[in-house]
This record gives sequence, structure tokens and C-alpha cells, in this order.
Amino acid sequence: MSNTTPWLDAADASDVPDDDVIGVEVAGRDIALYKVDGSVFATDNLCTHGHARLCDGFLEGHEIECPLHQGKFDVRDGSPTCAPVTEALRCYPVRIEAGRVFLQLEG
Ligand code: FES
Repeated sequence: MSNTTPWLDAADASDVPDDDVIGVEVAGRDIALYKVDGSVFATDNLCTHGHARLCDGFLEGHEIECPLHQGKFDVRDGSPTCAPVTEALRCYPVRIEAGRVFLQLEG
């Protein structure tokens, strides 16, 4: 991401529950926000394996389990950690400022 990439307001930080995931729309994109140990992470919300939204899945530690076929990704870098997913999820830089979650979507 370049330094000129805008930071987009995605949510109130308190709207992301501890150790859970929510779906938000940011600039027309479906994004999943996760909070693990007080840190917020952002990825695409759509699973790379099929048509399922990860915000409907189950977060355990840093792993999100897809609700459709139970594939898993690490929310820190989007890497696939459990079959049948093989393609990484796209992740986005997160910044918390004045209690709001900001994301950089473009690079
Ligand atoms: Fe997510 Fe198949 S759609 S694992």
C-alpha cells in the first residue's frame, strides 16, 4: 500500500465484538472485521473457495472457519490453514483512530 492510499472509515471499533467477526461494507466492498486479543484484522468477506461469507463463520483464535465447507484461513495474513481452501484471502491494513476502524483498500 502506498502512503497516499486513503484510509476509509469502516466501523466503530466497539462494534467488532471480542474474539468474533462482523461483516461491513466499505466503498462497496464486502469486508470481514475480526477482533482477536484486542487487535482488529480485516479481510475480504467472501471465501476464496465458494460463495460463503466468512462473517457467518466461526472465529477461533486467529483462524476463521468458513460456514460452508469448514475451510480455514489465518485472519492475520489470509493464508489458508485447512482444506478445502487453497487460495489466500486478501487482507487489508487496519488503523484504529478515535475509536474508529480505518482500512486501506487500494494499493
Ligand atoms: Fe468456504 Fe467452501 S466456500 S470452504
